[in-house]
Amino acid sequence: MAQAHTRILGTSFVVGEHCVKNDALSKICDTSDEWIRERSGIEQRYYVEEGVSTSELGFRASQKALEDAKVSPQEIDYLVFATMTPDYFFPGCGSIVQAKLGLGNIPALDLRQQCTGFIYGLQICDALVRAGMARRLLFIGAEVHTGFMPWSKKAVEIILGRSHEELPKEERDWNTKFRDRTVLFGDAAGAMVLGPADDPSRGLLGFALHSDGSKVESLYVPSAGMAYRPYVSEVHCREGRHVPVMDGRTVFKMAVSKMPEVVREVCRLAAVTVEDIDLLIAHQANLRINEAVQRSLGLPDSRVYNNIQRYGNTTAATIPIAYDECKRSGRIKPGDLLCFAGLGAGFHWGAALMRE
Ligand code: UT7
Repeated sequence: MAQAHTRILGTSFVVGEHCVKNDALSKICDTSDEWIRERSGIEQRYYVEEGVSTSELGFRASQKALEDAKVSPQEIDYLVFATMTPDYFFPGCGSIVQAKLGLGNIPALDLRQQCTGFIYGLQICDALVRAGMARRLLFIGAEVHTGFMPWSKKAVEIILGRSHEELPKEERDWNTKFRDRTVLFGDAAGAMVLGPADDPSRGLLGFALHSDGSKVESLYVPSAGMAYRPYVSEVHCREGRHVPVMDGRTVFKMAVSKMPEVVREVCRLAAVTVEDIDLLIAHQANLRINEAVQRSLGLPDSRVYNNIQRYGNTTAATIPIAYDECKRSGRIKPGDLLCFAGLGAGFHWGAALMRE
């Protein structure tokens, strides 16, 4: 008998409490709705209220995903948490959510593969389920990016529409230094319950994953880290070294070349063709990246889903959010061949195939 594949049994997602349109960001730095839409496709994103952490968003999304899967917390026997924005330097968010949900002392594993966190995590979840080590696995991809934003409390109040003051020029200039990154990201969490499929023809079919550490400095957070003593310093904060550094052009070029390549590779490994893909759900970093990937693969609009317009880049949460939306809207039907693909800091990139 063929070995059972791993299936998604239920999903859900949550976003930060505040919807922030592009125009709100132009109040605190030199940017515009037109620039952001044209270069990235983004129209709005969500920010959490200060104090709401990544584990809290992960917890909220998990409660909804458990309901969707009709699985009780007591049935979950493994938890995997992917994020690049954990609540603390250590430990990761996995055990925090394990305790909040009352899952008992099950294993809780934390992954940090940034924008490819979902694809790497999915492969680990698949391996655990197929090895019989987990039967009801909770997988979370969550991020609170707003902690990265080097903004004053006053700037945040202006963005959220709770203050109508103007920022001093010096502060606006400081915020403008980071505008190529700060406009892109939003806060959100996606969660999934996974388990063995009853029908061996359905579920996860295969993965292709890669890394290239030779370009780490194209996308990274230089500080805080154990490369320094002490690992966190006031000087670094003053210099803005706690904000992600990004060579946008390099990331863009890597994404538009590696993502189509890895989609073709995973299709070859699973003995299907790109034309067989019913729906491509790629990481949502930039709509222009995903349009270029789509063109390169020759897929029609009906076979690609994007929602970056409404959420911005939510890193490990983008694919679970998009999957959940497609599932609920009927865009994904039983028997459809789905492809997930992503690339991000590391660099890490990869693709997965799943028969719904
Ligand atoms: O998941 C991984 C996360 N990251 C990514 O995937 C990022 C991939 N890269 C990108 O999405 C794009 O490179 C960006 C959207 C980040 C930037 O777009 P770009 O077309 O590469 O713009 P650029 O960096 O070449 O900047 C063009 C101009 C510059 O001005 P000058 O030098 O021509 O006067 C920038 O200073 O646009 C300026 N600029 C902005 N203007 C208004 C940069 N950011 C902004 C902004 N608003 N937010």
